[in-house]
Amino acid sequence: MPDRETPDERNSAAGLVEVPAPYALVAEVTHRCPLRCPYCSNPLELIRRGQELCTDEWLRVLSEARSLGVVQVSFSGGEPLMREDLEILVSRARELDFYTNLITSGVGLTQERIGSLASRGLDSVQLSLQAADPTLADRIAGRKSYEEKRQAAEFIKAADLPLNINVVLHRQNLDEIERIIDLCLSWGAERLELANTQYYGWAVANRASLLPSRRQLLTAEAICKRKRAVIGERMEIIWVVADYYERMPKPCMGGWGRVQLTITPNGYVLPCPAATTIASLEFETVRAHHLSWIWSESPSFNCFRGYDWMEEPCRSCDRRFEDFGGCRCQAFALTGEAARPDPVCQWAPDRSLIERVISSSSEMSINSSEQERAKPASALSYRKYPETLDLNLR
Ligand code: SF4
Ligand code: FES
Repeated sequence: MPDRETPDERNSAAGLVEVPAPYALVAEVTHRCPLRCPYCSNPLELIRRGQELCTDEWLRVLSEARSLGVVQVSFSGGEPLMREDLEILVSRARELDFYTNLITSGVGLTQERIGSLASRGLDSVQLSLQAADPTLADRIAGRKSYEEKRQAAEFIKAADLPLNINVVLHRQNLDEIERIIDLCLSWGAERLELANTQYYGWAVANRASLLPSRRQLLTAEAICKRKRAVIGERMEIIWVVADYYERMPKPCMGGWGRVQLTITPNGYVLPCPAATTIASLEFETVRAHHLSWIWSESPSFNCFRGYDWMEEPCRSCDRRFEDFGGCRCQAFALTGEAARPDPVCQWAPDRSLIERVISSSSEMSINSSEQERAKPASALSYRKYPETLDLNLR
């Protein structure tokens, strides 16, 4: 019925591609990071300190983002605390009336630093946590860091900032989900995001050790629902689905170039944080172009906007207006072609690629003892930092 069509459906029928204003900016101010999480979504080859945008470049980029319509900025990394000018960037973001968020490992955070950031206008903090058991948490992070995270949570609460905790879930920590939820509640988190691992970047290299069994997932999800009902409004609990076990893909990033953009430490502008994993695309830098041109005109932002780029069955599927054909990074990681339907989709021609991976994971789980399943952390592959990365905090 024409009068019931959404704007997207009308645009698609007319062959028009809408370019909406972005809502959120992820400012990856550095790739330097004290942790070595085996599911890190940053590229295998990290940007060095000497290549990072300087303070003035970030200040200009923040202004350009505000003019473009962005209302929320997340300072991310790597570990953003490693930038000595973070306070200056937060101050400017406040002046520009952004909602500001800090995404941090908590390592290196002091009471003074968080107080200083709060006084400059920081609105909220997202703290990462690897596991509830300190030994397991340190092993997953590739560094002793649990105690610093516990302290960081205290400092954030003392600074009267909302504490959001993010836990990436996988084979190694799913079985302790109840402990994780209880721990985050005891630390005073307002919001807990339980995000099942997405397989890009380092997570692809570690997939065999990270991919959970279906049993683990179902049990953990049931515990999550039960705890949510008991905890109620004291702490919001978000469960981010385990893609590979779904039949329908997620509307990744809310659609390519529709809602958010990411800027890498050296100024490249991406439609999603993992987009550089798509080796067939070239991205533009704020050192050469205005942000509004990159968002509206650049080939990398326009190549998966609208619906004409889609292959069948997406091209004629009604769900394309909801999921935009799924995730481009996942399509590329699994098929080598970013325009393919996301293989997670039950109707995708490449669905068998997912089936093969999850059946080998389930076999491994059925055939191994609890003790053996606890082992693969030792088989995790960790990033090796070159000397030149300069990990000194402040
Ligand atoms: Fe989404 Fe394409 Fe699958 Fe339809 S066929 S549900 S648009 S991925
Ligand atoms: Fe890049 Fe989904 S993670 S499009």
